[in-house]
Amino acid sequence: MRPRCRVVVLVSGNGRNLQALIDACSRQQIRADLVGVISNRADAPALARAAQAGIACFAMEHQNFSDREAFDRALLETIQKLNPDIVVLAGFMRILGKAFVAALSGKMINIHPSLLPRHRGLHTHRRALEDGDTEHGATVHLVSEDLDGGPLIIQGRVSVSEEDDATSLAERVMTEVELKILPQALAWIATGELQLGHKAIEFRGQKLTKALQLEDLTETFQ
Ligand code: GRF
Repeated sequence: MRPRCRVVVLVSGNGRNLQALIDACSRQQIRADLVGVISNRADAPALARAAQAGIACFAMEHQNFSDREAFDRALLETIQKLNPDIVVLAGFMRILGKAFVAALSGKMINIHPSLLPRHRGLHTHRRALEDGDTEHGATVHLVSEDLDGGPLIIQGRVSVSEEDDATSLAERVMTEVELKILPQALAWIATGELQLGHKAIEFRGQKLTKALQLEDLTETFQ
């Protein structure tokens, strides 16, 4: 039988995406073990969620390191000790350097709150509103050196309404999309249905050339 997937999650904030992974693993919807959660902010509520779930927690505050490279090196060392099959960036708000990304090439995914390739970077909800987008959403992608530019795995969309502000839009993207697509992607990785390579992805034996769409799935995570 396929060994259970070992997963390390990097966080910076509230941890709702992390909580969705914790819940899906404990319900056996994902055949994986969350072997460590690392935050670059010691006060991140995400760390408390991990501790509550009995997961090994690590606070590594980036300002305690002399420079970006020193932080990246220490982070990589902590991750490697946990020997993960997959590293998940779940609201990790720190840009990672080339050497770090290269060391984890083909085994690191990120959730980004926009319909990539639209709105890479920060303030995606505000920018979607400013640009008059009629739909918005979130994307899980493979992490590459190109910030928010790695191959797409799965995305889901919501309609933007005239009453929306950045807060209401963020909440809808979180509940209707993020909390479903991240557990779904990890569940597929854990079963082997989704195979990550250095630059390409296969889904059920076929090279993935565009993002899978949440709306096409018959069953989704809650
Ligand atoms: C999410 O919107 C994620 O897409 C973005 O940061 C937010 C993190 O939220 N990168 P949480 O920490 O999972 O609650």
